[in-house]
Amino acid sequence: MEPVNVFELEAIARERLSREAYDYYAGGAHDEVTLRENRAAYDRIPLAYRVLVDVSRRDLTTTVLGQPVAMPILVAPTAFHGLATPEGERATARAAGAAGTVMILSTLSNTRVEEVVAAASGPVWFQLYVYRDRKATEGLVRRAEAAGCQALVLTVDAPLLGRRERDVRNRFRLPLGLVVANMLPEGYGEIPGVAADSGLAAYVAALLDPSLTWRDVAWLRSITRLPVLVKGIVRPDDALRAAEAGAAGVVVSNHGGRQLDTSPATIDVLPEIADALAAHGHRIEVLMDGGIRRGTDVVKALALGARAVLVGRPVLWGLAADGEAGAAHALRLLRDELDLAMTLAGAPTVGEITRDLVGRGAAG
Ligand code: GLV
Repeated sequence: MEPVNVFELEAIARERLSREAYDYYAGGAHDEVTLRENRAAYDRIPLAYRVLVDVSRRDLTTTVLGQPVAMPILVAPTAFHGLATPEGERATARAAGAAGTVMILSTLSNTRVEEVVAAASGPVWFQLYVYRDRKATEGLVRRAEAAGCQALVLTVDAPLLGRRERDVRNRFRLPLGLVVANMLPEGYGEIPGVAADSGLAAYVAALLDPSLTWRDVAWLRSITRLPVLVKGIVRPDDALRAAEAGAAGVVVSNHGGRQLDTSPATIDVLPEIADALAAHGHRIEVLMDGGIRRGTDVVKALALGARAVLVGRPVLWGLAADGEAGAAHALRLLRDELDLAMTLAGAPTVGEITRDLVGRGAAG
């Protein structure tokens, strides 16, 4: 039987994945407080629906950075899709394209950016980690551009990897045959086994640049003509700095609860960030991720100031359950739930999802 929601998809994925892979995808930092809160915060926000609105026709389309999309749900960057399906990120790219939306490809993919974009039927953006080796980083940016990626998403919340205790316990490493494909030519392709830690934590500590500052946003802008989004923002003042640094947008994100534990749920900080940008006259786009599992979550995020949301784990569960078809199913479930939520909320278009839809007592 087809899973009827993304939680059921996760249950199937859990059976199919190795313990190490499931824990890597599912886990968060330390006590996983933020991981749980990202999700739980949605349940505390009531939706004050409108009645007697003609909802006989709905339109879920919108644009992100000028790019038309079939729905305000994008595929978040997540690492190592080869753990879920032999097709790796190619399967994800095809599923995203079929859903009419953007895939954001992680630097840490098991498939090279060139191959992913070649397999894609829709737009691909590239999530960038800045390596200590700036030449190699610049080379990666060039390759993403040349391949046809349409935006860069700079992750800024990971100077070191959060301590994901599941991965520490499992001594997480990539199974034989899987590498960080994009960085293999630079000699940074292997995720090593480490005696008493997550191999990925060791990789990040050794290779990524913890000295990154706002100046580097300017550096990145100086080496690319692509729009740059800054991902990992949870404070209004940082969102303002991103806008001042010339970012085309921010992604309100705490890295799916995988970095600083007890950092706030993203839906709770979203409205103050959106309001601060608007109050300062910045018209940059605000995207968000973290805990989106239901169509109603998407409505709440848009009502509280997001232009669109990103979903990570639901797509991974789909990939693990049934490859490309599973990822497509995850996106279809969320799309259909969003369509129903918009119908029942009396907001038949994305533009009609406004702040008043979140009831009294809600954030903002
Ligand atoms: C990679 O970015 C991760 O969060 O594991």
